[in-house]
Amino acid sequence: MTSDTDVEFWDSRYREGRTPWDQGGVPVALRRWLGTAPRPGRVLIPGCGFGYEVQAFHAAGWEVLAIDYSPSGVARAREALGELADKVVLADFFANDFGRERFDVVYERTFLCALPPRMWPAYARRMAELLVERGRLVGTFFYGQNDDPPPHPLTPAAADAVLGYYLERVSDEAVTDSLPIFGGKERWQIWEKK
Ligand SMILES: C[S@@+](CC[C@H](N)C(=O)[O-])C[C@H]1O[C@@H](n2cnc3c(N)ncnc32)[C@H](O)[C@@H]1O
Repeated sequence: MTSDTDVEFWDSRYREGRTPWDQGGVPVALRRWLGTAPRPGRVLIPGCGFGYEVQAFHAAGWEVLAIDYSPSGVARAREALGELADKVVLADFFANDFGRERFDVVYERTFLCALPPRMWPAYARRMAELLVERGRLVGTFFYGQNDDPPPHPLTPAAADAVLGYYLERVSDEAVTDSLPIFGGKERWQIWEKK
């Protein structure tokens, strides 16, 4: 029996091509944000999966580090990324030693909702550790209801309690290109480290 905190849970889905969360490209809101974002810096992409966003951030001038613990997902991402393959690290986001490395932005898409709610406080704490002063957690967050997780949906109250402990929400918009599995219940949000 595997649980959604096991590498095998995710790796088997990549091996078997069962990836209903895969957008096959970069979300519209990220493209828009990259076009208007302040000057590029360092970005971390945890639970990157196929890692389309690595190329998008790189092309916009950002220094990118992406991390995922699924060997099959990472192999696919590296293959697709070609000369950017070394931007993707195979490791557990919670256990990886980032040394003194800190990030201006952490990019989120379907990583938080891949984690069971008991792990959300550790996610929020890790964000606070890894972001620079006033650094930002930027991306897509899944709100709503799901009786058969993952994905594990956020509620506004959980977001305020868990993320809001370390971060302040500074923007919140509807997502226009949500996949069916997320049922139009995603929000594009920016959270700034307090
Ligand atoms: C739902 S998928 C999302 C992938 C990608 N963000 C996307 O938008 O397509 C969740 C990803 O998180 C990865 N993951 C889950 N727990 C992880 C952990 N503790 N450390 C690193 N990666 C993890 C899984 O291997 C999987 O690739």
